Amino acid sequence: MNVLLIGSGGREHALAWALAKSSRLTRLFIAPGNPGTAACGSNVALDAKDHAAVVAFCKAENIALVVVGPEAPLVAGLADDLAAAGIKVFGPSKAAAQLEGSKAFTKVVCDAANIPTAAYARFTNAAAAKTYVFEQGAPIVVKYDGLMAGKGVTVAATVAEAQAAIDALYANEPAATVVIEECMVGEEASFFCLVDGETVLPLASAQDHKRAFDNDQGPNTGGMGAYSPAPVMTPAMEARTLADIVQPTAREMARRGTPYRGVLFAGLMITDEGPKLIEYNCRFGDPECEVLMLRLKSDLLALLLATVDGTLGAEQAEWHDDTALTVVLATKGYPGSYATGSEIRDLDKAEAMAGVTVFHAGTRREGQSLRANGGRVLCVSAMASRVEEARARAYAAVGAIDWPEGFCRSDIAARALNRS
Ligand code: AMP
Ligand code: GLY
Repeated sequence: MNVLLIGSGGREHALAWALAKSSRLTRLFIAPGNPGTAACGSNVALDAKDHAAVVAFCKAENIALVVVGPEAPLVAGLADDLAAAGIKVFGPSKAAAQLEGSKAFTKVVCDAANIPTAAYARFTNAAAAKTYVFEQGAPIVVKYDGLMAGKGVTVAATVAEAQAAIDALYANEPAATVVIEECMVGEEASFFCLVDGETVLPLASAQDHKRAFDNDQGPNTGGMGAYSPAPVMTPAMEARTLADIVQPTAREMARRGTPYRGVLFAGLMITDEGPKLIEYNCRFGDPECEVLMLRLKSDLLALLLATVDGTLGAEQAEWHDDTALTVVLATKGYPGSYATGSEIRDLDKAEAMAGVTVFHAGTRREGQSLRANGGRVLCVSAMASRVEEARARAYAAVGAIDWPEGFCRSDIAARALNRS
């Protein structure tokens, strides 16, 4: 079958890499893709915002499944428009993607299904929000209600900081909705499940590193590195997360008449009282997807199709026991402003190393040369039976790449290593 994958980052390179291994695949197209995905299929210049153009492409190329990588097209209703045109699509409807698109919506679902999460209140004006913060005291968490590419959350250590965050959100958007949350304490983990509307198939856990610099210092980013599995997600913790959080969510979404179909990414805080939901995402994480795809033994295309067809009950996902770890190489300056176009050399040397796979996140080709084309540029990834070894391999591969304009964190998986 022919498959169209939407997106252009490291997540999509990892998805393309896994889809390309499927015995059921005939042709893989990636829109718009990147130099990494070009090695897994055919990149096509197609604007995912133009839903009619995507539908027309699918008809012309006999696409049997569209896989949507990022959240924005889902929140914009691309899955609805494809489904209406009779095209199978992996990714939730616009209504179900509200689990990522609106933090206030997710809180309502949590209330209805009695899902453990931070206590909260919702506001539509700055004065009321600031009074509430004053009453609650700090630490406290201020969240913009809609999508803000990971920049809409402030974990405030003081009341003044929280109030400044509220003012900044309302200065930017006078009609904003904000959610103010209790600050939960614990270890964070990500847990990924496929949901076909009814059945939940657990995939695997991972841990991301959101801050730009070592020891969780510096500004928040899209993620500077990840590893899977996350040791904090023991089988018992996974079972609790499924029973208390993910399954009740799937049931509640179905009850509301907006069943969730796709990958559900639960951001969790593992507290003394057990797992609590921080947030949902309606897509694979980036760079979490890179480490999940390295560990996945099963046919990804078969699993995605079963999700769309509502037959997940008959599926199982098999995983390599090894740890997969990825180090993000980013352009100096990221997540602030940075230059693009610097040349990256010796990628082949890194890729030739044992257990190493390099996913492209923000690169472009210029003639024979490979150039940086974004903030997060490469996800240098490795597998090994022990975390220490996976980390040593990934950093050895980073060392082989000649790109003076790049930087990375040097402490990916420190939390896993400190446990053992
Ligand atoms: P989010 O975009 O909702 O995942 O939030 C970004 C980050 O803020 C999370 O990864 C957490 O580190 C932190 N965070 C969000 N909500 C809370 C909360 N209620 N308590 C503690 N930390 C939080
Ligand atoms: N790496 C975090 C995310 O994809 O949301």
